Amino acid sequence: MLTPWISLGAGGHAASAAHALAGVAELVAVVGLSTRDWSVDVLESDSAAVAMAQQHDLRIVVTIGDNRRRLEVLDQIPAALLLSAAALTSTVSPDVVLGGSSVVFHHAHVGPGARVGRGVIVNTAAVVEHDVTLGDGVHVAPAAVVLGAATVGAGAFVGSGARILPGVTVGAGAVIGAGAVVTRDVPDNVSVLGVPARERHRFERTTS
Ligand SMILES: CC(C)(COP(=O)(O)OP(=O)(O)OC[C@H]1O[C@@H](n2cnc3c(N)ncnc32)[C@H](O)[C@@H]1OP(=O)(O)O)[C@@H](O)C(=O)NCCC(=O)NCCS
Repeated sequence: MLTPWISLGAGGHAASAAHALAGVAELVAVVGLSTRDWSVDVLESDSAAVAMAQQHDLRIVVTIGDNRRRLEVLDQIPAALLLSAAALTSTVSPDVVLGGSSVVFHHAHVGPGARVGRGVIVNTAAVVEHDVTLGDGVHVAPAAVVLGAATVGAGAFVGSGARILPGVTVGAGAVIGAGAVVTRDVPDNVSVLGVPARERHRFERTTS
C-alpha cells in the first residue's frame, strides 16, 4: 500500500512534489489556496492537517517553495508525522537517509555518503554527488549539480543548472544564480552569479 500523505502547500512546488511522488505515496489532501484542481480534500489549515494525520495515520510533506517559510512551517509539525521520499525515477544511494519532509524529484541523483537535512528539495534532474551535505531547507533547483563533498548550508538556494565544485562550502541562506559555477566558498546570506560565480549582494536577513 502506498503511504497516504497530506501536502502542506498547494502551489506549483506542491504540484511538482505530488507528481514526483506518484507511485511512491498517495496524496490524500492539500492545505492552501489554489486554483488547481487537486481532486483531493482541500483543508483549511495546517492544524487541521496535523489532526487528520494523527487520526488516520497519514504523513505530511511541507511543499512550500520558499526555503525559509518551508522550514518555519516544518518546525511546527511533529517529526513523527513527516514523510520523506524519492521519485521512482531518481537514484538515491541506499545509505542516504533523507531528513523529514525532504523530497527527491524525478530523475535526480543523490550519491553515497550524502547527508540530506529536513525540508530539502532535490528538484528534477538535480545531481547531489557523493559525500555532499545539504542543510535543512536547502533547495537544489532543476538540473543543478552539487559535486563531491561540497556543503550547502541551511536554507540556501542553488539555482537551476548551477554547478557547485567539489569541496566548496555554500553558506546558509546563500542564493546561487541559475547557471553559476561556484569555484570557491560562498559566505552566509550572499547571492552569487555567473561563471565563475561572483558576489552580487549580501542579504540583510539571516536564515537562522
Ligand atoms: C540570481 C537570481 C535569484 C537573481 O534574481 P533577481 O534578484 O530578481 O535579479 P534580477 O532579475 O533583478 O537581475 C539582476 C541582474 O542580474 C542579472 N542576472 C540575473 N540572474 C542571473 C544569472 N542567473 N546569471 C547571470 N546574471 C543574472 C540580470 O540580467 C540583471 O542584470 P542587469 O542588472 O545587468 O540588468 C535569479 O536571476 C536566478 O538566477 N534565479 C534562479 C531561478 C531558478 O533556478 N529557479 C528554479 C525554480 S524551481
